[in-house]
Amino acid sequence: AALLKYTFVVQETNYTRLCSTKSLLTVNGLFPGPTITARRGDTVIVDVINKGDHNITIHWHGVKQPRYPWSDGPEFVTQCPIQPGANFSQKVLLSDEEGTLWWHAHSDWSRATIHGLIVILPRLGTTYPFPQPDQEVPIVLGEWWKTDIQTVFENFVDGGGDPANSDALTINGQPGDLYNCSISGTTKIKVDRGKTYLVRMVNAAMNNLIFFAIANHSVTVVGSDGAYTKPLKSNYITISPGQTLDFLLEANQPSNHYYIAARLFNGQPSSRFDNTTTTAVLQYAGNYTPSSPPVFPGTLPAFNDRNASFNFTASLRSLASAEHPIDVPLTIKRTLFYTLSINAIPCPANQTCEAIRNTSRFAASINNITFDMPSTAILGAYYRGINRGVYGDDFPDVPPLKFNYTQTSGLNASLRLPEVATEVTMLKHNETVELVFQGTNLVAGIDHPMHLHGHSFYVVGSGFGNYKRKRDSLTYNLVDPPHMQTIAVPQNGWTAIRFKADNPGVWFMHCHLERHVSWGMGMVFIVRNGKSADARILPPPPDMPPC
Ligand code: C2O
Ligand code: CU
Repeated sequence: AALLKYTFVVQETNYTRLCSTKSLLTVNGLFPGPTITARRGDTVIVDVINKGDHNITIHWHGVKQPRYPWSDGPEFVTQCPIQPGANFSQKVLLSDEEGTLWWHAHSDWSRATIHGLIVILPRLGTTYPFPQPDQEVPIVLGEWWKTDIQTVFENFVDGGGDPANSDALTINGQPGDLYNCSISGTTKIKVDRGKTYLVRMVNAAMNNLIFFAIANHSVTVVGSDGAYTKPLKSNYITISPGQTLDFLLEANQPSNHYYIAARLFNGQPSSRFDNTTTTAVLQYAGNYTPSSPPVFPGTLPAFNDRNASFNFTASLRSLASAEHPIDVPLTIKRTLFYTLSINAIPCPANQTCEAIRNTSRFAASINNITFDMPSTAILGAYYRGINRGVYGDDFPDVPPLKFNYTQTSGLNASLRLPEVATEVTMLKHNETVELVFQGTNLVAGIDHPMHLHGHSFYVVGSGFGNYKRKRDSLTYNLVDPPHMQTIAVPQNGWTAIRFKADNPGVWFMHCHLERHVSWGMGMVFIVRNGKSADARILPPPPDMPPC
């Protein structure tokens, strides 16, 4: 395995979109940011140099960082922020990941512009478990905000309600020709007829699941979240914020250009979010003058098509081959049941909460606990054995109250006010865990893309309605469940995952909708050290940022 080096300079850079120019925080002046390319098992050293004027941290989403949580990145979970003018040399330890992952800022809302792909090629001398593509194409789905993102974030926290919508969705940083002033910049993906392309895609949007389709072309999904899947042919894609998908695209159609389009998926009324569509163009090589606009993909699901979203995600299967075997825990030592809720809580003294009549603000919770981010890093406190005043270890294994979680109306939001606290769940080294996420409908029901740091998990089951162990555990797929790190728990439904807590450290788990994690939909697993010397957290690097 190789040792690779990258330098990430965090800096303000001017970009022009939607008819106006603004300064935004970038890495190396790029939006989206630079791609890291490595091979399975490599170590990547990234020197992060903060030349901006905000605190920042960087997270390597989906990289397990075996025994080395120090470089994981979530602010106040594993580290204190890198202050303006400071540096932090982060070690990205690849192990069994292969395919596509991504990196992004993990402090305030700066990930809106600070993100990029991580491409993990097979080891030298090994190949893809599918025919070698002719070329690879990155697609980063994101958003553009006319307002400075820090201002959007501060208004959102202070106002207590929903955040402002972004002004456009983007494909590789461009809104596309359906938006004002965006025709010339529209992303063009140039292909040669007869060739096959491997598309590596991430949904880097802040607050939206996304539907994606290419007119007249179906795609074959071959990977997700840094692991291979069985080939899945589809004429549209659903992708959650945080998730990555790898798919093969055959350039096999007769015309010269086709629309690539993406819009968000949201089971809520359309007035609550931006329901515009971002486009790019799939352009075949050759000499021609486009005579008419490209055909629009008729297979792109409607914004509220819950079945389209559920069916796509539930169709993913692990490759589960001899070269890429799976290891689903069959006996479970620890069974957890976590409810995911949106709540309303009294307005704190330092906020105005004008969005909800100056009296209350939205919050979000897991098992009725709204995660209160400490002001020093949990990892450092745990490692030094000084957790008092930083966190407690009483996160409940089951919700404090049983009710009809998925009842769509008539549920009293004050059914239970969440407790605002910093609680963690301790796991023994190598403990096998089954965790069922149950969506609830307290204030609102919506898909929650849940993401776990430091581990991949197997998604063994999912469904609509209230989870019933006796009935639903019989439907589990223990043969080829997909191996993922981010999974959308369906609106008014549940998802069951299994994993082995084999990575000692402090690992954040949270909803990857930015507004929900900001409202407190997160918690922390601490995986204890094992007995042997090679099952313990490695020592911290000398340049950990101080608080
Ligand atoms: Cu992609 Cu904790 O994040
Ligand atoms: Cu959520």
